[in-house]
Amino acid sequence: MLNIWHPQISTNLATIPGYSHRCRTKIRASQELANTSDEKNKGQPSSSAGKIKRFVLSNEGRTKLNAIPDREFYAYPRFVTHVDDGFISTLTNLYRERLRSGWEILDLMSSWVSHLPKEVVYKKVVGHGLNAQELAKNPKLDYFFVKDLNQEQKLELESCSFDAVLCTVSVQYLQQPEKVFAEVFRVLRPGGVFIVSFSNRLFYEKAISSWRDGSGYSRVQLVVQYFQCVEGFTQPEIIREIPKAGGVGEDKSPLSWIMRLFGLLSGSDPFYAVISYKNFKPIHE
Ligand SMILES: C[S@@+](CC[C@H](N)C(=O)[O-])C[C@H]1O[C@@H](n2cnc3c(N)ncnc32)[C@H](O)[C@@H]1O
Repeated sequence: MLNIWHPQISTNLATIPGYSHRCRTKIRASQELANTSDEKNKGQPSSSAGKIKRFVLSNEGRTKLNAIPDREFYAYPRFVTHVDDGFISTLTNLYRERLRSGWEILDLMSSWVSHLPKEVVYKKVVGHGLNAQELAKNPKLDYFFVKDLNQEQKLELESCSFDAVLCTVSVQYLQQPEKVFAEVFRVLRPGGVFIVSFSNRLFYEKAISSWRDGSGYSRVQLVVQYFQCVEGFTQPEIIREIPKAGGVGEDKSPLSWIMRLFGLLSGSDPFYAVISYKNFKPIHE
């Protein structure tokens, strides 16, 4: 059964069965590791970890063409998929590689579909988004909550409570990405991973100006900077898979280049993912 969290009232998620306080012990362990050369600070939290070092976007870069509140824009459910099968299978394979069964996962800006591998059992998957009807249909979610991250970025979630945070084809809608990435850092356990994936599709009028007017390359660099602006994320890793125009069984007929020119024969959706870990990248056997 799916439980709805109302963030306004559910401020203490420690009351949810299965919630653990593992992070304190883990934090100490990782901080001791990080501080072995500095005896004075041994075991003390690094004061700057999780802090925003600099803001990436200008005020203009945060603007959207459509200024109606996002909750209104997403008020009715859209039971569609936002990317094609090729993109989804690449993403699901990436999750298969990077996420382990038994983990606690937060799917930020989620919808009615899950891209997590069906066969893998996680300890808990929490979804977040703007439309409760969509989230209620998502087969992988154990809990969900609705929150407009452009209104408020604070997540009503315990620090160090997730092994992984995911954000799929949605980062372009964040107007305060630096604060959201800092919150993701806070809720991740040390060694936890944040996977941000995207393609070239978007609700154009709802994407921020810095994204709208960019290219695949500049968008990857933007997400890299979102990670780098928060103290303590590891050097971001970039994954790109750009399918050939026409995809499998590419049409090589003499007219195909003209059709492509007019958008009548399109390639499949390009895949980009930027991945980073909180404090360190763990080695899993
Ligand atoms: C293109 S959909 C992607 C949904 C899902 N991640 C997927 O892969 O199908 C964009 C999502 O971003 C979320 N979103 C957009 N603006 C938001 C905001 N201001 N605050 C929170 N979520 C937002 C919406 O709920 C929507 O589901």
